[in-house]
Amino acid sequence: MNRVFIKTYGCQMNERDSEQVASSLRDRGYSVVDNEFDADVVLLNTCSVRDQAEQKAIGKAGYLSKRKRENPNFVLGVMGCMAQNRGEELIDRLPDLDLLVGTQKFHRVPDHLDHLIRSANGQGPRPSTLVDLDEEADSQNTIRDHIGKKNQVSAFVSIMQGCNMNCAFCIVPKTRGSERSRPIEHIIEEVEELAANGVKEITFLGQIVTSYGRREFPVVDGKSPFVQLLEKTNDVPGIERIRFTSPHPRGFKQDLVEAYRDLPKLCEYVHLPLQAGCDKTLRAMNRPYTKNRYSEIVNSLRAVVPDMYFSTDIIVGFPGETEEDFSESAAFFADIGFDMAYIFKYSIRTGTPAEVMPDQVPQEEKERRNQVLLEILSRGSLQRNERLIGTTQEVLVEGPAKRGDAYTGKTRGFRNAIFEADERLVGQLVELKIDRVTASSLYGELVLAGVDTF
Ligand code: 5AD
Repeated sequence: MNRVFIKTYGCQMNERDSEQVASSLRDRGYSVVDNEFDADVVLLNTCSVRDQAEQKAIGKAGYLSKRKRENPNFVLGVMGCMAQNRGEELIDRLPDLDLLVGTQKFHRVPDHLDHLIRSANGQGPRPSTLVDLDEEADSQNTIRDHIGKKNQVSAFVSIMQGCNMNCAFCIVPKTRGSERSRPIEHIIEEVEELAANGVKEITFLGQIVTSYGRREFPVVDGKSPFVQLLEKTNDVPGIERIRFTSPHPRGFKQDLVEAYRDLPKLCEYVHLPLQAGCDKTLRAMNRPYTKNRYSEIVNSLRAVVPDMYFSTDIIVGFPGETEEDFSESAAFFADIGFDMAYIFKYSIRTGTPAEVMPDQVPQEEKERRNQVLLEILSRGSLQRNERLIGTTQEVLVEGPAKRGDAYTGKTRGFRNAIFEADERLVGQLVELKIDRVTASSLYGELVLAGVDTF
């Protein structure tokens, strides 16, 4: 009765939350398995950012609840954003749910499972769905333990929870609550422990990392708490690369630009959500910047790091986005020359301001706009990769590729690289001479001088 499978939908924050739950369950004597069929307990960690993500998880939960009919001791739980967003209404859709846990209650999962399993064993009354969705002060300070995967090269570190922005399209302020930041010293301790376990790359996570600590901690020497955190992380021995996701253009100030100039471990890659490249749409979205301001940030970064790589989130078919608005947005998107982008078709989220906006865009039109941006992206990305042919790039070796006997890793610019290697190189920084590229990957041979383990 103690084998748990956790299925994660959505963003890196959700992945990190699932790791946290897995770690706390292991500490409690559960075993975390990687296959739902071997599990006595299945927990779905869900996403609400688009309707499709919610539908997928609901479908999966419906399918799994059939298992409960064959095996009444099987435990099924839904955690995270959809639990928070839909609350007890979900139980009407999924009456067989045993557990519903919100985004500020992940650390309570072991207690809840203990309780459910005790009662399933006849040691207590069989409860109806156990629901734990409240807000919890200081829940940001409950996130810490890592699973300590063998050979873990790269780790996500959550630095804050919640979001205080009010983007008209977005459900996240509802699912994740208001902003709360962890103290710098706690985060640095966690980074030091990860480094001691061999982790080389840290990715800081937060809904809006540029807002990190802005109410809790002071600005020092003109540097925001977030930049102070980056500086301290840059000083941690063993950490070779620092990344973060996601900043907001509004909080992207000169101190952060200069961090790219001054901190050698901060990788020359930024994921900076644009959402729309048209001022009218940005205003309607309640995104407090203009495309000019966005360009200024991009230019100031390119001025300090000419090889900077840019990634973004952009939405097509926001209510009221006309053909003209979209063309403007697409032209701006092409102008910036993104190396990577997540392109989203607008999805109505109940309870957000955009839900009731007039002039919703038809689905086929969203599809078309999506294709237009995908083509721009794939052209730009290929051109960028082609410029890398013949160069040597530093790659952090992650592990075996999904297919074949090659290995994969990432360059500092977050390009995916595929190459012949050896198990002993996993977790190491190697030099890769690029000889062939596609829009999504770089191929080449390792330059092995100075690497002594191969
Ligand atoms: N529809 C489509 N995409 C959305 N996103 C957030 N809300 C919606 C929505 N209602 C996208 C944004 C955000 C990313 C995580 O998801 O681009 O940056």
